[in-house]
Amino acid sequence: MTIIVTGGAGFIGSNYIFYLLEKHPEDRIICLDKLTYAGNLSTLASVMDKPNFRFVKLDICDREGVYQLFEDEKPDVVVNFAAESHVDRSIENPSIFLQTNIIGTSVLMDVCREFGIGRFHQVSTDEVYGDLPLDRPDLFFTETTPLHTSSPYSSSKAGADLLVMAYHRTYGLPVSVSRCSNNYGAYQFPEKLIPLMIANCLADKPLPVYGEGLNVRDWLFVDDHCKAIDLVIRKGREGEVYNIGGHNEMRNIDIVKLICHELGKSESLITHVTDRKGHDMRYAIDPTKIHTELGWLPETKFEDGIRKTIRWYLDNKPWWAEIISGEYQNYYAKMYGDREHLR
Ligand code: NAD
Ligand code: DAU
Repeated sequence: MTIIVTGGAGFIGSNYIFYLLEKHPEDRIICLDKLTYAGNLSTLASVMDKPNFRFVKLDICDREGVYQLFEDEKPDVVVNFAAESHVDRSIENPSIFLQTNIIGTSVLMDVCREFGIGRFHQVSTDEVYGDLPLDRPDLFFTETTPLHTSSPYSSSKAGADLLVMAYHRTYGLPVSVSRCSNNYGAYQFPEKLIPLMIANCLADKPLPVYGEGLNVRDWLFVDDHCKAIDLVIRKGREGEVYNIGGHNEMRNIDIVKLICHELGKSESLITHVTDRKGHDMRYAIDPTKIHTELGWLPETKFEDGIRKTIRWYLDNKPWWAEIISGEYQNYYAKMYGDREHLR
């Protein structure tokens, strides 16, 4: 099979490419990525020379470029990871989120229709369901939970999901959608909670916890997410949504304390700062459908996954040190400079 992986120079997309090249050496993998601030070609350095891998720098919104790539490669499957992915950035500047996440997805699907793709898979998020209250631990997101978004990011992802399902119903495009909870692991951009806290801890910088830090996320090791997506594209049913989650709910404050502990740093680095606008309280996935239909279960325990992740950031400092030495400094000053230190 020839598989186009969009957004493959980002966090989950790159891990998925590594997974594919190892598990399915018979497949040809094309990475299509615009290389935005979040895309990093050095992440893919170890696979660049593989004969069954090709990298193409391209914007998914560039209709002619995407058409030409399909003409050249005649892909069987497209897995769409490409997106603007950071909630805080979407609050500052929604328009690029609408452009990439909705328009870009529609361009890809239009070209998929013209070329008669075998499967278009949309990598979506649990954030499309909104949030759950902290005092109802019995509630979980299922695939039939209504979409109820909070941020421009989650709204753009929900818009794309609706469009994907509409292309299935209207044009018969063979699609699938997966909605996953928070991922962690190697190569995550240091704007996200876990790598940001690791990098700050190592530099003895304040650890900016939004509000009280009581918000709950359902953390999943990235390799487990990659395995789930791969099962969905190969064995999942067309026109279906699959939730993916680790049954691993944790409060932000507990994650940050754990990182301090693992790195031997004092919890006095923790600084409570102004909360995120519209901050979702709790995400919790019910992964029963993907378990019963496809036999998927998360394999990595959080204690093991977080230690592996911290180890990876310790061993790969040049990768993230270069990122945080550039434009990231302006981003950090803008996003965190104005936040009041609550305590
Ligand atoms: P990321 O920000 O690390 O990577 C995004 C990648 O997409 C980058 O390589 C970037 O260059 C590329 N990209 C952005 N705009 C593009 C465009 N217009 N054309 C081509 N490439 C473009 O994101 P991530 O955390 O790896 O997330 C990947 C996907 O998974 C996203 O769709 C996200 O919504 C979804 N998701 C993420 C998580 C998570 O916890 N990170 C959880 C569930 C779902
Ligand atoms: O649930 C899936 C989603 O998970 C994905 O769709 C998104 O692409 C991904 O970015 C992630 O969204 P979150 O907003 O949950 O992730 P983030 O790492 O930005 O924040 C996790 C929690 O930590 C959230 O409650 C906000 C909080 N936080 C985050 C940062 C960056 C802090 O308290 N301080 C911080 O500096």
